[in-house]
Amino acid sequence: MNFVGGDFFSTLNYSSCNEDWRTERKALSLSPTDRVLCICGSGDRPLNLLLDDPASILVIDKNPAQIHLLKLKVEAIKNLSYEEYVSFLGLKKNANRLFTFEFLSQFLDSDSKVFWKKNIDLIKKGVIYQGRWEKYFRKVSRMASLLRGEKIRRLFNQNSFDAQKRFVRYSWDSAFWRTTFKILLHPTVSRFFFGDPAFFEFVKIPFETGKFLYDRMLSSLQTYLAKENFMISLVFTGRLSKFDLPPYLDSSYFHAIKNRLDRLSFTCESLFDFFNNPKLEKFSAFSLSDVTSFFDQAGFERLLSGLINASADNAKFCIRQFLTSHFVPAKFEKIFVRDRVLELELEKQDRAFAYRFFVGKIHKA
Ligand SMILES: C[S@@+](CC[C@H](N)C(=O)[O-])C[C@H]1O[C@@H](n2cnc3c(N)ncnc32)[C@H](O)[C@@H]1O
Repeated sequence: MNFVGGDFFSTLNYSSCNEDWRTERKALSLSPTDRVLCICGSGDRPLNLLLDDPASILVIDKNPAQIHLLKLKVEAIKNLSYEEYVSFLGLKKNANRLFTFEFLSQFLDSDSKVFWKKNIDLIKKGVIYQGRWEKYFRKVSRMASLLRGEKIRRLFNQNSFDAQKRFVRYSWDSAFWRTTFKILLHPTVSRFFFGDPAFFEFVKIPFETGKFLYDRMLSSLQTYLAKENFMISLVFTGRLSKFDLPPYLDSSYFHAIKNRLDRLSFTCESLFDFFNNPKLEKFSAFSLSDVTSFFDQAGFERLLSGLINASADNAKFCIRQFLTSHFVPAKFEKIFVRDRVLELELEKQDRAFAYRFFVGKIHKA
């Protein structure tokens, strides 16, 4: 059950990383016997989860653009050196991306090849910053820089928590800034400028979105240095911080991930169609991102039913919740056994600061 229309599900919406890989790994604590079903998005989550050595990861997304992006990332990791790979994707400057794409295209399936040839401009500009979200972050960061460029520079120059806390308290946190946030993040404004339904379609707190995100961001600035927070960096500089790169873009993990790429497989379809497949295989872990932002409560419950069908007994799940307020209905409470302590811990630790969690195990018996 998905109520979102337009071209949203055929264009590239997520291209770099907007979920904290540390909390995802902690939530699922995968092991070599795990068979994972994983929402694709930018493809960062499945790539990062390979570090935990699962037996397999089936990546699903109903938007073909997201699957094409992951396939491109996979072939780039497989066939390029680390330096060539990150500069091809856009982490560093590169004038030869079209040439590299010509080389990589021999490894892509025909649908992906056609897609990227049509969207070659995204590759030319450095694809990890060409998703709808990433472009939005760039706009926000430019606007923020006009409004308070000097303060943003000072925020990212902080080297100690104590100094950062003082700076946030006395210089950063102002009535003007709070109001700006409230206005910019009001669902009506984001609908106009942005168009991601996750921002407005099923939001239960329309007038509080800006305040909610502002308060969460402030509390994150009390916990992590701004320059060590990939999300704060994306919002205020439009780029990932070199001090907090997701593993799939970090040289230390490049080879471990490269060696496990054959564990990934892909399917481009809606989760609901997937769950209806009579030959549905059973998974021992579900990495579902904040896919629930695209559903209303009825859709969320339909997702839970699908998960029961698709899960092995005691399967682990991690679902993020962005601005929706879904709940597990009484009929499912004994099946979806949530680890509330872990959920709160993850919520506090998550550097992407906006998410709340459903984490636990599916007890079918
Ligand atoms: C919020 S995004 C995940 C983005 C993620 N935060 C990231 O960092 O990449 C969720 C993904 O779920 C996909 N999606 C939404 N509804 C879906 C459905 N019914 N079945 C399969 N995928 C769906 C969207 O296309 C999107 O790529």
